[in-house]
Amino acid sequence: MSFLSGEHMTGGYGGGANILEDCTITVDRGEIAVVVGPNGAGKSTAMKAIFGMLDLREGCVRLDGEDITALSPQARVRKGMGFVPQTANVFTSMTVEENLEMGAFIRDDDISETMAQVFALFPILEEKRGQPAGELSGGQRQQVAIGRALMTRPQLLMLDEPTAGVSPIVMDELFDRII
Ligand SMILES: Nc1ncnc2c1ncn2[C@@H]1O[C@H](COP(=O)(O)OP(=O)(O)OP(=O)(O)O)[C@@H](O)[C@H]1O
Ligand SMILES: [Mg+2]
Repeated sequence: MSFLSGEHMTGGYGGGANILEDCTITVDRGEIAVVVGPNGAGKSTAMKAIFGMLDLREGCVRLDGEDITALSPQARVRKGMGFVPQTANVFTSMTVEENLEMGAFIRDDDISETMAQVFALFPILEEKRGQPAGELSGGQRQQVAIGRALMTRPQLLMLDEPTAGVSPIVMDELFDRII
């Protein structure tokens, strides 16, 4: 059985038409899965469905064998999911460090070690830790967003277009760090 599976997911926004029609996605432990498709195909919608930001009309989501279809996004984070949305994925008026602290909102243990790991992964964030995230470049913001998601030490990390708007060199770097 796959670690994550979205099975026969069907649903859309509000009372509108179905955006997802019988969509099934599975990912195993240690696996990197990629969703490819043209603009408007429903890639972000499928991710939102897996993360619990879309009410499914049919289908279910399982994580590590457990049916989590009824859980809120925050409950899914507690189960080990991390999600970096395509847009609005940092708190622009908060500093880099505050963004990372927000990412760790469900933890009540010491987060300093995880923050040190994020800074080791993305050194620019340590340099800019006291600066509002809104003052960072696009590629640097994506690093904040991914770092923020890593703060809960997720078992499953979902990234929606993590390299959108970043230069090819930064893109290569980001993919290296992600791997
Ligand atoms: N919040 C929303 N409310 C209503 N419709 C939406 C909403 N978000 C997306 N849609 C619609 O759902 C469809 C799929 O959008 P989605 O964002 O999932 O596409 P995508 O594959 O991620 O595209 P892109 O490559 O541009 O990111 C589009 O027709 C879009 O208009
Ligand atoms: Mg999208």
